[in-house]
Amino acid sequence: MIYIKTKKEIDYIRQSCKIVAETLQLLKRYVGIGITTKELDKIAEDYILSNNAVAAFKGYSQGGSSVNYPAAICTSIDDEVVHGIPGNRVLKEGEIISLDVGVQKNGYFGDAALTVAVGNISGEKQRLMDVTERSLYIGIEEAVANNRVHDISAAVQSYVEENGFSVVRDLCGHGVGKYLHEEPSVPNFGKKGTGAKLKEDMTIAIEPMVNMGRYSVKTNYDGWTVLTTDGMPSAHFEHTILISNGKPEILTAC
Ligand code: MF3
Ligand code: CO
Repeated sequence: MIYIKTKKEIDYIRQSCKIVAETLQLLKRYVGIGITTKELDKIAEDYILSNNAVAAFKGYSQGGSSVNYPAAICTSIDDEVVHGIPGNRVLKEGEIISLDVGVQKNGYFGDAALTVAVGNISGEKQRLMDVTERSLYIGIEEAVANNRVHDISAAVQSYVEENGFSVVRDLCGHGVGKYLHEEPSVPNFGKKGTGAKLKEDMTIAIEPMVNMGRYSVKTNYDGWTVLTTDGMPSAHFEHTILISNGKPEILTAC
């Protein structure tokens, strides 16, 4: 069941999304050589709590994983695709790191992610980040009332593949609002003209995960961290958006 949000619900989701966007902008300023991912996690959680909100990922349990997610944010470096757990790892020059933030306030969620460089990075990693971010916006353009979910998917996939990279198949975007993960599932691959019909006042998170090499991924021994199987880098960008009859509104825009 895909929820259509009321004006009041949209207002709450908008508030949570604003805190997500601000947290990501704050984190971006701290990413650099020498900082640990645990320090980034603390900066994010403190900021979220200071806004009378909670970090939505903390304690989250997903089907199949026996461990509740132990941190406030996800920090995924290089071959880590998503759900990297913050810890003592120190950021090094040349790495790329995906920062994924979820916030719950007044019972409603917002969710967004971006990937940033640590110091100087290779040209190919920069291109991976640029293509992934651009694919998100290309997907967002398709997220209008009366289009179908896989119009978003197909647009993301074709742009990414034209650029020589691959889209992760095992993880998807999702509806978001009353719950962190709602229907519909929003894959980053698929056939145009198929899937559920999009309607005004649906709120969804679109999140391309793009691999430089092959699309296959595996989950690490910690039960969370998703890694590329071939060890090549991956990038991730995500926005929560509101569907309308015209241009979608990016609720997690900064
Ligand atoms: N943005 C990610 C997602 O939608 C983050 C989830 S992390 C989790 O899957 F811990 F909450 F699972
Ligand atoms: Co998400």
